[in-house]
Amino acid sequence: MQQHTAFRHAVITGASSGLGAALAVRLAHSGATLTLFGRDKARLEKVAADCTRRGAQVRTVICDVGDAAGMKKALLHADDMTPVDLIAANAGLGGRDVLAGPNGETIELARNICDVNIHGVFNTIIPLIDSFIKRRNGHVVIISSIMAFQGLPEAPVYSASKAASRIYGQGIRRMLKPHNVQVMVACPGFIDTPMSASLSYPKPFSMSAEAAADRIVQAIERKKSEIVFPWQLRFLLRLVNSMPANWADRILAVVKSLAIGRSH
Ligand SMILES: NC(=O)c1ccc[n+]([C@@H]2O[C@H](COP(=O)([O-])OP(=O)(O)OC[C@H]3O[C@@H](n4cnc5c(N)ncnc54)[C@H](OP(=O)(O)O)[C@@H]3O)[C@@H](O)[C@H]2O)c1
Repeated sequence: MQQHTAFRHAVITGASSGLGAALAVRLAHSGATLTLFGRDKARLEKVAADCTRRGAQVRTVICDVGDAAGMKKALLHADDMTPVDLIAANAGLGGRDVLAGPNGETIELARNICDVNIHGVFNTIIPLIDSFIKRRNGHVVIISSIMAFQGLPEAPVYSASKAASRIYGQGIRRMLKPHNVQVMVACPGFIDTPMSASLSYPKPFSMSAEAAADRIVQAIERKKSEIVFPWQLRFLLRLVNSMPANWADRILAVVKSLAIGRSH
């Protein structure tokens, strides 16, 4: 079993499924405390039991990340019980739930995506910043997406929400560096989770949630600022980003039509 000993108390949102669950298991070891946030009690308790079997002390919190007051209360309580030294803002809305329809996105969908993927990240991180600064210790991880770098025609608001969380991470990394607080943004490509399974189109270079969690934890240990993976998508992305906007538009339109064609 791989062990991670640097963190005494890790808080993970979206721990009831997919990448968040894999991160929780990856960080579970004897001597570690984990506070796992989610909404689905049964799935969250199952992940908690897996982590307990690995020797961790586990607490679970049922809370919507969009609930600023609820998140603040639960986070401050968790920090009072055992000082938090890692917070992973992982919970997110994605997959089929964020795709634009034939007439685009509704205002309600746009608001839902931003409530979870942007405000949810703020609600997870901001309450603990003061403690991290006072202790001159702490790690913040934001799970953004490779889609943070290009506005995808299938999901413009989702892309914008991930770009926002990435840039927020960049800002707080620079703000918190003098206080010895580390901030890392992870921008993964496709990961095999219920979120990506809800999409019927091809997911090139997809990886398991365990492999992605491994990459992320290793990057935290190495104090990386940002990771974009897998390398194949990072390479393609750099290519598209270096092109004039109208070329990139054409390429992404072709990718979209190929994806839609393959999904029928
Ligand atoms: N899968 C991919 O291909 C991929 C690629 C790039 C980035 N990401 C990002 O990775 C993160 C994890 O996604 P995943 O693939 O592991 O998806 P997932 O299996 O669908 O898990 C999403 C998690 O987020 C939680 N969540 C969703 N809305 C929430 C809300 N309003 N309040 C609290 N928790 C909420 C869910 O909790 P409940 O189930 O308990 O409701 C669940 O634990 C997301 O930020 C996603 O955007 C995923």
